[in-house]
Amino acid sequence: MRKVGVLGAGLMGSGIAEVCAKAGYDTVVREVSEDLVKKGLSRIEGSLSKAVDKGKLAAADRDVAWKRISSTTRLEDLADCDIVIEAIIENLDVKKETYAALDRICKPATIFCSNTSSLTITEMSAATQRADRFAGLHFFNPVPVMKLVEVVRTISTSDETASAVFEFARSLGKEPIRTHDNSGFIVNRLLVPYLLDAVRALEEGVGTREDIDKGMELGCGHPMGPLKLLDFVGLDTTYAIAEIMFDEYREKRFAAPPLLKRMVLAGRYGRKSGRGFYEYGG
Ligand code: CAA
Ligand code: NAD
Repeated sequence: MRKVGVLGAGLMGSGIAEVCAKAGYDTVVREVSEDLVKKGLSRIEGSLSKAVDKGKLAAADRDVAWKRISSTTRLEDLADCDIVIEAIIENLDVKKETYAALDRICKPATIFCSNTSSLTITEMSAATQRADRFAGLHFFNPVPVMKLVEVVRTISTSDETASAVFEFARSLGKEPIRTHDNSGFIVNRLLVPYLLDAVRALEEGVGTREDIDKGMELGCGHPMGPLKLLDFVGLDTTYAIAEIMFDEYREKRFAAPPLLKRMVLAGRYGRKSGRGFYEYGG
């Protein structure tokens, strides 16, 4: 692996591009508009500088990593990538359409990986002619800080692809774990019902938003309470994840509470939109 393509430069794509560049890969990031390319690049620049300020990265290494990143709005610019990691919105139709187009553009050896939180990798891989070179590579938010990556194989993923993706994750300085293609994989299968229950607790008046969060922070040692974490992940993304997981398992614990739906309808997506369960200046 030498060259990495990253689709989407939102919360996750920008972090994924950053860790790839820091690990020495030439990295090309693709967004759908120039404006979103700019936003993504400025998010990466900000995070690289924060890493320098926190003493996690030497200023010279930041400059080298930054130079390894290029950006585009054209899918064609990912043609010669060795691996493409997709981190676009959690919508199956959009992902399938993107993969079908990319399949026609990329060289045959390119490995495709999705960072999806809840969609089945098999369904996306079926939109391409390379199901054997298709896997899930699920990073955690914030990508530069969280050590875990879930490496997901489907019944069609070849042994060669599964081990190449696992080694690639390691080369990024991450701790990969292996899992099969079940909606939510390991972590979200456990995390999502907990987050949705916190919204139900708020809806039912069990406690204030502050007390629910403080309860889990001080009572269980979580770095962030569930409502803060929901704002951090994005309520729009969490709502999409819940809908997909409910559809897959038909179990109430994955059903999105009405309050979550109302907040998404009202444009309260969390930190990314300036307001979720909490308010964020600007
Ligand atoms: N690059 C590298 N390192 C960085 C960094 C950066 N840009 N920014 C911060 N760091 C490092 C800091 O140096 C610090 O390291 P040490 O502890 O070794 O000193 C560490 O990261 C924490 O940084 P901060 O002190 O600035 O921040 P914090 O203590 O307030 O923690 C947090 C912030 C890491 C986000 C923490 O609150 C946390 O872990 N929250 C929970 C996050 C979580 O659960 N994520 C998973 C979400 S679910 C998901 O992602 C899956 C899905 O599909 C939805
Ligand atoms: P986001 O909304 O921050 O970013 C998504 C980006 O995808 C946007 O910038 C959008 O312009 C772009 N996009 C949309 N359609 C596109 C297309 N056809 N081609 C290229 N870009 C396109 O979302 P996010 O939180 O970064 O999530 C991205 C993916 O990562 C989703 O599949 C999500 O489930 C998954 N994920 C999210 C988290 C999280 O905590 N937010 C954690 C792990 C995995």
